[in-house]
Amino acid sequence: MNANEPVNILLVDDQPAKLLSYEVMLRDLGENLIKAASGRQALEQILRNDIAVVLIDVVMPDLNGFELAAMIRDHPRFHTLSIIFVSAISVTELDRVKGYQHGAVDYVSVPVVPDLLRAKVKVFAELYRKTRELERLNAELERRVEERTAALAEANAKLEQRVEERTREREAALAQVHEMQKMESLGQLTGGLAHDFNNLLMGILGSLDYLARQPLSDPKAKHFLTAARESADRGAALTKRLLAFARRQELRPEPVDVQRLADGMAEMLQRSLGPTIQIEMDFDRDLALISVDPNQLELAILNLALNARDAMPDGGRLRIAAQRETGATGLPTLEDGDYVRMTVTDTGTGMDEATLKRCSEPFFTTKEVGRGTGLGLSSVLGLAVQSGGGLRISSELGKGTTVELWFPVAAGAARAERIEAAPVQNGAMPHYRVLVVDDEPLVALLTASMLEDLGHASQVVPSGMSALNVLRSDRTIDAVITDYAMPDMTGAELALQISRLRPELPVILATGYADFPNSTAQSLPRLSKPFGSHELASILTTLNQRSIAS
Ligand SMILES: Nc1ncnc2c1ncn2[C@@H]1O[C@H](COP(=O)(O)OP(=O)(O)OP(=O)(O)O)[C@@H](O)[C@H]1O
Ligand SMILES: [Mg+2]
Repeated sequence: MNANEPVNILLVDDQPAKLLSYEVMLRDLGENLIKAASGRQALEQILRNDIAVVLIDVVMPDLNGFELAAMIRDHPRFHTLSIIFVSAISVTELDRVKGYQHGAVDYVSVPVVPDLLRAKVKVFAELYRKTRELERLNAELERRVEERTAALAEANAKLEQRVEERTREREAALAQVHEMQKMESLGQLTGGLAHDFNNLLMGILGSLDYLARQPLSDPKAKHFLTAARESADRGAALTKRLLAFARRQELRPEPVDVQRLADGMAEMLQRSLGPTIQIEMDFDRDLALISVDPNQLELAILNLALNARDAMPDGGRLRIAAQRETGATGLPTLEDGDYVRMTVTDTGTGMDEATLKRCSEPFFTTKEVGRGTGLGLSSVLGLAVQSGGGLRISSELGKGTTVELWFPVAAGAARAERIEAAPVQNGAMPHYRVLVVDDEPLVALLTASMLEDLGHASQVVPSGMSALNVLRSDRTIDAVITDYAMPDMTGAELALQISRLRPELPVILATGYADFPNSTAQSLPRLSKPFGSHELASILTTLNQRSIAS
């Protein structure tokens, strides 16, 4: 119903003349006037039409006005219907009270004053219209509330879904961080272990070196000596891989031409893989040089090739390729930039998801005892990361595996001259007085003994402090070889002190660690533990060449 629509007004009277007179009086209101000549007819009309106001004559033959009003009021649908009684006869106060008790809203006595009747009916018709309008607005409001509630519920559900997604993303990120932290602490542990082991191996290998140089008549003793040497060498190789995984191996990066390096390995690879495996190489023309330690890269390629061989027991194809990549790397740990991507692909067994996930963890292997240490991929990964690059492995069961190695393009295209270990030239070597600083007495002693064998003189001290004391009083020292990790003063700190005391004095750092926090240490000549007399002689030769050059 709208605010201007006419409403229905029911006029009930048994006398047609009176009905007519009401009609005339109310016509001007502009509402619909419906007439009923009896109570029964009135009920019929009320049930059929939507009545706003009913005008009832109190005295009627079949059903009197009060009875009709009571019946209307009893019906729940007509509670809001306004009833006005009209009566010429019953007009006492008591009658009026009775009328109100029967649900009347008003009581008009005869003779009816037309203006009064009109005014009264108009008020109740208006009331009816307003009530209907209010109901309509109410329903509209309810509908809107419902709509809003539904929209809110939908937004809520979306929010919950997003929260769930975010939580899942966060959990995945946390898991990744956790994995990285795990690898980091594993790396630290392994690095520390390898460092200590290198010191032990230094003692073992040095002692064996010394014994090997003694005349031994017992062939059995000679045999065992060789066996001991081999085991110690294997131990040294193992610690190298551990350090590689821990990203603490001594790297000598230089600009490397990947194609040349791979070509140089082709024959050796074919021999290692056997005739059933076909090797293909595919390199971009004029590939940029990369910055990497060439020896370690060769070792990494060999590691990958051997993994491929193990995955292709019945033969297959091994493809080594490289191409330039600029821009986004797609590797989470590798910034966008300029790289060469090397791929080693095989047509072997491939890996299932669980193996693929763990394959580059140290000591993870699916090979039988004695056939794999599980350090291959982890050391390759270590090399890539320590060289500023990254590693990605993809694999499909039954199809094969691809390992991607990313290395940064070398700054400056010129190929640096490779610093080869200088040959030992005993004859031309001057005789030095070398101060050996090491808190491990056995290592210090062995170094001294190697120096003496090479024709040099040496003095051994157990700490940086005592080394400085010696240098203050003894000006005849020509060089210092110092351990890096010592309790009170590190080798790097000692080198710094020496550079103030005697700037021209060469200092060599001997260590099983590549992880130096300060830059002084980075620039010093270095001896990697375990070292033998050959390495010692070579580094002293480079010192000799430097002093000639300067
Ligand atoms: N090309 C490959 N195809 C299928 N599986 C591979 C491949 N490369 C590595 N894997 C899986 O990953 C594991 C770990 O490889 P990783 O090179 O680290 O150790 P390993 O080969 O088992 O032992 P190690 O290299 O120390 O002798 C392997 O045991 C193997 O299950
Ligand atoms: Mg391997």
